Amino acid sequence: MLLLIKNGMVVNPGDKTQTESDVLVENGKVKQIAPGLSVKAERVIDAAGCCVMPGFIDMHVHLRDPGQEHKETVETGLRAAVHGGFTTIVAMPNTKPVVDNPDVVRYVHNKAQDIGLAHVLQAGSMTMGERGEELSDIEGMVEAGIPGLSEDGKSVMNARLCREAMALAVKYDIPIFAHCEDINLVNGGVVNEDGNAKRLGQKGISNSVEDVIAARDMILARETGAALHLCHCSTKGSVQMLKFAKQTGLRVTAEACPHHFTLTSSDIREDDANYKMNPPLRTQEDVDALREGLREDIIDVIATDHAPHTAIEKGEGIRRAPFGITGLETAASLVMTELVDQGYLTMMQMAEKMSYNPAKILGLDRGTVEEGKTADLVVFDPQQEYVVNPAEFYSKGKNTPFAGRKVKGVVIATIVDGRVVYEK
Ligand code: DOR
Ligand code: ZN
Ligand code: ZN
Repeated sequence: MLLLIKNGMVVNPGDKTQTESDVLVENGKVKQIAPGLSVKAERVIDAAGCCVMPGFIDMHVHLRDPGQEHKETVETGLRAAVHGGFTTIVAMPNTKPVVDNPDVVRYVHNKAQDIGLAHVLQAGSMTMGERGEELSDIEGMVEAGIPGLSEDGKSVMNARLCREAMALAVKYDIPIFAHCEDINLVNGGVVNEDGNAKRLGQKGISNSVEDVIAARDMILARETGAALHLCHCSTKGSVQMLKFAKQTGLRVTAEACPHHFTLTSSDIREDDANYKMNPPLRTQEDVDALREGLREDIIDVIATDHAPHTAIEKGEGIRRAPFGITGLETAASLVMTELVDQGYLTMMQMAEKMSYNPAKILGLDRGTVEEGKTADLVVFDPQQEYVVNPAEFYSKGKNTPFAGRKVKGVVIATIVDGRVVYEK
């Protein structure tokens, strides 16, 4: 089947070009990129006024499948993903059971393949059951195709065990996705440790909770040679240490999430658990550091940490509700509204951080718009405005602090392996 995407602005981070062009897709591949193509195609998408970008790649998603299918399934997660313009997602292993062996990896991969909406790469845990006691079946999971190791939801607090996992990651040439949280320093905290914690009557989470483990993991990565990727950076300290580590040649990358560069703890007006996530919303100083870090490419990736929970759980108030918010269906608009429109990022940087850089880190031959390459694409209208309405989410998770927020940037179509899997 021939698919023709007409008159879009093709943003290709592969060669850093931005040109008004048509894109012809055939047999799952980009066949031709040129202006004014006159081909009889079975399907035509009018992309006038839109950007044609490489499909977004989200390195940080919680699919909740297996075990918590009432929160999300592979299918609802994938519907949300393609609605958000994502063509590949990495699923975190803190499911029930935890992804600590090849059987669970294959279960998720097979399910995703049957659904066929977008690509899913299931990450493996570092320790059995994420209990931090003994290493998972890392070799087996590598054979089953994991893209990397992560203990997401927590850190491996035993530094020796963490170092052993890193050594195996080097052996099998896969990255570590590090959730940085010193559980002893958390000490029951639920929101950022600042005046707003007092105002809300909640226990605080200090910046050191993140910074201590970020520093430790960079030290361990230096020693072992592991490719370290820091998940959901939220503090000024993380950005400063990243900058230093990169200057000294360390193989480290990092991601920031839309909520962390958009909101602060001051935005939590009442006891609303839709503002509760881990790491927590920080201060304006931290937000400014994240935005600068993104602008200066100290932070390589924008990921969502899409973490669906039920309305009942989130209705229990900040102290008792679980951490996490949904993100797949608001990410692109928040990047557009908060970063591109405000002059922090160019469209090219958006494509780099949401597609090209994640592909590099994951070792995928994707993240570009190039003739002969896989046609994983998103048609994105950067001008169109709308108001976020969780009732319109495909995700089962409606837990977002952005309900009612006016944003800019709409996904018009998502194409995976040359197939239109979502069209507005
Ligand atoms: O907010 C979060 N939610 N942070 C995490 O680290 C885990 C995630 C979840 O699984 O709900
Ligand atoms: Zn995490
Ligand atoms: Zn997470």
